[in-house]
Amino acid sequence: MPQLEVNDIHTSYGLSQVLFGITLDVEEGEIVSLVGRNGVGKTTTMRSIMGLTKPSQGSVKFEGKEIAGLAAHQISKLGIGFVPEERRIFPDLTVWENLDIARRPAPAGREAWDEERVYTLFPDLKEIPDRPGGVLSGGQQQMLTIARSLMGNPRLLLLDEPSEGLAPKVVENVRDQVKLLKESGLTIILAEQNLGFILYLSDKVHILEKGEVKWSGTGAALKADKSIVEQYLTV
Ligand SMILES: Nc1ncnc2c1ncn2[C@@H]1O[C@H](COP(=O)(O)OP(=O)(O)O)[C@@H](O)[C@H]1O
Ligand SMILES: [Mg+2]
Repeated sequence: MPQLEVNDIHTSYGLSQVLFGITLDVEEGEIVSLVGRNGVGKTTTMRSIMGLTKPSQGSVKFEGKEIAGLAAHQISKLGIGFVPEERRIFPDLTVWENLDIARRPAPAGREAWDEERVYTLFPDLKEIPDRPGGVLSGGQQQMLTIARSLMGNPRLLLLDEPSEGLAPKVVENVRDQVKLLKESGLTIILAEQNLGFILYLSDKVHILEKGEVKWSGTGAALKADKSIVEQYLTV
């Protein structure tokens, strides 16, 4: 059984329909990427899974349980973490305080994330536990946002455009950290524009256009087919 099964979801903002039947499966431990140009529905797919914008139609099953229609905080409690595009940290709280308030128990039988484990993954944060969130660099903020989600001990993590606005060196750093997260057993859905990032990490890729999945395949298959990249991804 896939860990997450999204089946034919339709989602609207008011009268404006944005998703037109998105279907995708995610197996435990995989990195599945959602790619496509701006405005195709990547963020809305994540918001629909997370219960932040409820699908009007279709089903979302997490570990066999129907979650479409649940409130976001209930979905979060079941073990799905969301790292939104706009990095939401508390600017007046220190790095450590930002981590501490996100703390939640681990599921039975899993190694829990705590600050020590988070600092092992993000050594930069270990150097600055007392620094207010508001004065961090873009890269540090992205690391802190991911680290905060980990403190909630999710089993599935939704990462929305983690490389956006970061310098190339920092992007590489975040990419390696996402890889380590996968190696720790976490399942990850990644929305990204950065093709290098995607090809390096993804087990499966879904290309979206106008709220529909237009192409699905492995990272290797995408890499091998320049015409797909040109059709759906080149600006
Ligand atoms: N809060 C909102 N209200 C109305 N329309 C929205 C809202 N958020 C996104 N949209 C629209 O939904 C479409 C898909 O957006 P989004 O899911 O953010 O795409 P992506 O993440 O792929 O860039 C776009 O046309 C966007 O303008
Ligand atoms: Mg988006």
